Amino acid sequence: MKDIAIVGAGGFGREVKMLIDQINSVKSVFNIAGFYDDKEYSADINGVPYLGDLSKIEQIDRPLDIVIAIGDPTIKKRVVSAISNPNISFPNLIHPGVLIGKDAVALGRGNVICAGNILTVNIAVGDFVILNLACTVGHDTEINDYCSFMPGVNISGEVKIEESVYVGTGAKIINQLTIGEGTIVGAGAVVSKSLPSCCTAVGIPAKPIKFH
Ligand SMILES: CC(C)(COP(=O)(O)OP(=O)(O)OC[C@H]1O[C@@H](n2cnc3c(N)ncnc32)[C@H](O)[C@@H]1OP(=O)(O)O)[C@@H](O)C(=O)NCCC(=O)NCCS
Repeated sequence: MKDIAIVGAGGFGREVKMLIDQINSVKSVFNIAGFYDDKEYSADINGVPYLGDLSKIEQIDRPLDIVIAIGDPTIKKRVVSAISNPNISFPNLIHPGVLIGKDAVALGRGNVICAGNILTVNIAVGDFVILNLACTVGHDTEINDYCSFMPGVNISGEVKIEESVYVGTGAKIINQLTIGEGTIVGAGAVVSKSLPSCCTAVGIPAKPIKFH
């Protein structure tokens, strides 16, 4: 078994621990070493040790897999960029029940694909993407690094999602659109036209309400 640590001990971090438990229930792959978090914990977290703040990751002197359990793309990118220890690897964590088409679906590294996801065919997913529970990703879609999709997001076909996009729970993205880098899509939105970079867009149809 490979040792794995979870970065981020908040709600999603504990759900990622559940995801690893479910992967292990099919085939024992990972030994969960613990959680790293800059918030200090004085006790175990759901039965798993707290290993210290993120600076401790640079001191690891043996091979260790790490999963980044942070939803905010900006923080996720900052945390990943600060890890330079060559002992660290970032596996893809995929729930055993996820449906992924056999035809030309490419995944980078460090991706987290939770229970209930469906990815069809000819899809490119970059690195450190989170697909939270029960999302769907349609044909010929491109998802770039650090994007996070909250539960129940539906992405139609031929969609391009640029780096560090956050999509709130239950949002729907219609086919052949582009969502610009760093944009935030509100929960429940229906994206019916392409969205520019660095905006927050909400509603049906989704419209930018602010730029950041
Ligand atoms: C879109 C979002 C990021 C905006 O957050 P924010 O930048 O802090 O914005 P605010 O809360 O100040 O809201 C600004 C305005 O947009 C409205 N608004 C916020 N989110 C909205 C949404 N999802 N749909 C429609 N309107 C929304 C607010 O009511 C507010 O309207 P007002 O100016 O008339 O009062 C946030 O509301 C959201 O939807 N986040 C997704 C959360 C999620 O999916 N979590 C999953 C956890 S697993």
